[in-house]
Amino acid sequence: VIRPMHRGDVPSVVNLCDQLGYHVTAEELEARMGALHAEDGHLLLVAEVGVVVGWVHARTSQLLTDPAIVEIAGLVVSDTARGLGTGRSLVVAVEQWAWSLGLSQVQLRSNVKRRKAHKFYEALGYRKVKRSEVFVKALE
Ligand SMILES: CC(C)(COP(=O)(O)OP(=O)(O)OC[C@H]1O[C@@H](n2cnc3c(N)ncnc32)[C@H](O)[C@@H]1OP(=O)(O)O)[C@@H](O)C(=O)NCCC(=O)NCCS
Repeated sequence: VIRPMHRGDVPSVVNLCDQLGYHVTAEELEARMGALHAEDGHLLLVAEVGVVVGWVHARTSQLLTDPAIVEIAGLVVSDTARGLGTGRSLVVAVEQWAWSLGLSQVQLRSNVKRRKAHKFYEALGYRKVKRSEVFVKALE
């Protein structure tokens, strides 16, 4: 079942973040989840099969230069539950949310190293349109 993420999911979501390569504490995750729930334009879902086996975070994005879209900001399925259609179900739920908002494009950025994820997105009908460099500056 695909359902909204809630506070009780924090331990499972923390574990799945580790699998995605992001270490977050339960306290950090709970605070961030609360902040996202308080803000419009965010969708946080989990896939549950007795236990939580995946999550997705999607958000609306409006730029000056383009029509509004929905962006998949994070997606992971447990390494013990891959290849069973869970990732597809989470992405379809995001697409339905986008439609419900009147938005007709879903976009995502994926690290060039995540080759398997790219195959997954292509299987779902996504196509690669460009590659980017990411620039960061730590402010002191
Ligand atoms: C990418 C990920 C979310 C896919 O989730 P999943 O539940 O395993 O994917 P699904 O079972 O729904 O696969 C859907 C389709 O994608 C394709 N696919 C999935 N994994 C694939 C792989 N490793 N290689 C090739 N195709 C793949 C399959 O064709 C599948 O089609 P089918 O339903 O006809 O078999 C999951 O592997 C994952 O969490 N990976 C690690 C984290 C990550 O990379 N997240 C994305 C960050 S951008």
